[in-house]
Parts: sequence; structure tokens; C-alpha cells
Amino acid sequence: MIAFRTILTSTTALLAAGSAHATDLEVMHWWTSGGEAAAVAEFANAFDATGHKWIDGAIAGSGGTARPIIVSRIIGGDPMGAFQFNHGRQAEELIDAGLLRDLTGVAEAEGWKDIVNPPSLLDACTVDGKIYCAPVNIHSWQWLWLSHHAFADAGVDVPTNWDEFVAAAPALRDAGKIPLAVGGQPWQSAGAFNVLMVGIAGPDVLVRIYGDKDADLAAGPEMARVFAAAGDAREMSQGTNVQDWNQATNLVITGQAGGQIMGDWAQGEFQVAGQTAGEDYSCLPGLGINELIDTAGDAFYFPVVNDPDIAAAQDVLAATLLAPETQVAFNLKKGSLPIRGDIDLTAANDCMKKGLEILAAGNTLPATTILNTEDTNNQLNDLFVEFFNDTSITPEAAQERFVDIIANAD
Ligand code: GAL
Repeated sequence: MIAFRTILTSTTALLAAGSAHATDLEVMHWWTSGGEAAAVAEFANAFDATGHKWIDGAIAGSGGTARPIIVSRIIGGDPMGAFQFNHGRQAEELIDAGLLRDLTGVAEAEGWKDIVNPPSLLDACTVDGKIYCAPVNIHSWQWLWLSHHAFADAGVDVPTNWDEFVAAAPALRDAGKIPLAVGGQPWQSAGAFNVLMVGIAGPDVLVRIYGDKDADLAAGPEMARVFAAAGDAREMSQGTNVQDWNQATNLVITGQAGGQIMGDWAQGEFQVAGQTAGEDYSCLPGLGINELIDTAGDAFYFPVVNDPDIAAAQDVLAATLLAPETQVAFNLKKGSLPIRGDIDLTAANDCMKKGLEILAAGNTLPATTILNTEDTNNQLNDLFVEFFNDTSITPEAAQERFVDIIANAD
């Protein structure tokens, strides 16, 4: 392994010196909002500094748009050099088909098993003992972002938990605000629902329903309370009328909406807009009820290619993504947490510090992208976007459909 590390390091040095083996690598991802683009530029810069060239293949929209395009390129025999997915079950079919590279050699040379924290991030990249992805962040869904300006305009205090937020909704409406911004992309309403589930019913319920596929629990009274809360959220979200998540975040940034339930990537948008946590906005982990975060994340995968130069550049990129400097630069802009605990994060803002404290206390839960297949998550997306759009669907009817999805999931 030491020999491999030496080769990798000297390869990097050689390339930095302008070797003929400098390679263009097309990298596909769906990071196109202001904060995301700023963050991914840090990866591109770090990779270019090795002497190779990052050819950016951003796909606008969301993961739901990008993933089928990426998969069809690979299946169609026209693979890119690297691509971003959420690690966990999204890539399992590509791995089964032998279309993705085994990165165990790079992981061993770079000591990933010793540095990646929590270890579940690397487990989510591992199939039959082989490591197939390079985890780049811990991103968590469990955040409620609140606009101080909207609440000031409405003459009410900034809420400290979900119930206070629901109670403040009429005052926000009277002040001409949308209480809760929910964009139209299907994954946003499903994501908000899952956050409500953890806040209101607790993390064990989520793990038993999505992990164990416990359909009885899905049909029971705890989940009925979550569906009732989703009914409140639906009511509070009426009038949002935007599609993209970052447009919804922008409604909070500009004080047109009171809040948004969204993952930590929203933080990148507040940062790009020059807002300060604690002054312009607040972030409540776990809706101010159950303070925890899921350890989902983004990871890069590398298709099998029949070209040794590209394979060598893929190895360099994989190692570069986890390097300490790259991790700091990327995550500070993205709003997510680094995948290694041994780096300097003194520049973290208040929200990121809260996330780091929750992580250090071990208050984490597995992500839906790890517990559910892409197919199950897509069915949930369809159910919840319909529920949020169509007020004639009762919480009870939506719960029945939810039970069916869980009963049939694998
Ligand atoms: C997620 C991704 C995050 C964030 C978000 C919105 O799937 O993992 O990093 O970018 O989509 O684009």
C-alpha cells in the first residue's frame, strides 16, 4: 500500500509539472444553485491543480433529473469520467452490472478507513467488501430555515420549534407571507415529510418504517400524527408557486416566506446572499424537537473505462476529493459537514457548528437514500408531491397509500 501511495503522489507531482499524461475528465453532477456551484468549483480547482482538467458536466434541475441521464450514458457505453450520486442504494444496479470501478486500492492507499467519520459513510460506498465511491460530505435533511425579516414583519417572535411555527402561520399570512415555502420538485415535499416524521414521531419510527419496512407501524397512530402535521405543512405552503428548491430558499432569504424545511445545502444560498446565521435567519435542526441529523451524503463514482490515462486521472480525483484542504473549502461553501474529523473548521458558521455538535454527540440516523431503493423513494416523491398539490387528498387517504408503498418495498 505504501508503494501505491508513492506512485499516486509522484504521479500527482509529475502531472503538476506538466506531464503529457494530463487528462481531461468529464465530471457530472447536479450542483447548479449559487451555493452549490461555488462549492463544486472548489473541487474543480483542486483537481486542476494536480495537472489534470475537470470538464464540468453539470445538469440543471435536481438529482431526479440528473440520475437517469447519467445512468443512460453509462449503460449506453458512453461513460463520463466521474459522477456524483447520493451514496447508498442509488448506484446498486450499476455496481451489480460491473459498470463502476472498485476504488479499494485508492481507499487503502489514502487510509480512508481511518479518516472517514462516521464509518457508515464508507459502509454506504461498500458492496461485498469493495469500496465503490468516494464520499465527499455529510449532508443532512433535518433543518428548518427561518427568515428573521418575515417574522419581524409579521410582529411575532422567530419560532424555536415546529409547533410555534404552525401557531405563527396566521400572523405570517396576515402580513402577506407564505408561511412555509415548498418548491414543486417532487423530492422536496417527500423530503419535508420525512423531516416531519423524525421531528414528530422520532428517529426510531423512520428507521423501522424505511429500514424494516414495518407496514403496521406505517398504518398506526404515530404516523397519523405525522400525516396531520403534513396537512398543516401543506396548508402553510399554499401559494409558493416555484419549482426549484433554491427558488423556495430565495423566498425565505428575501423575507417573502417564513421558513423552509430543506437540507443543509440551503445554507450555501444564505451565504451567497451575504446573510448571517442568527441575525438574518435561524436554522432549527430536527424542527427544534428532535435535534439530530441524518448522515446522508454525496459521493463520487467512477465508471469502468478502457483507457489507462483516464483510470489514472480517476484515481487522482478520488484522492483529491478527500484531501483535507479540499474538504474544508468545499464544505464551507456547500453548507455540509466534512467526511473527516481531523480538519480545521474554525471558519464554520453557527448552523454548521450546530451540525458538528450533533454529529459529535452521535445524534444521527441513517438516510432514506441508504434505507430505500431509488424506486421506493420515487414512489414516495410521487405521493407527497400529489398530496401537497391537491388539497382534496386527506391525510388519512395519503397514509393509506403510504402503507401500500412500504408494504411493497424491498
Ligand atoms: C441532493 C444533494 C445535495 C444537494 C441537493 C439539492 O440530492 O445530495 O448535495 O445538492 O440535492 O441539489
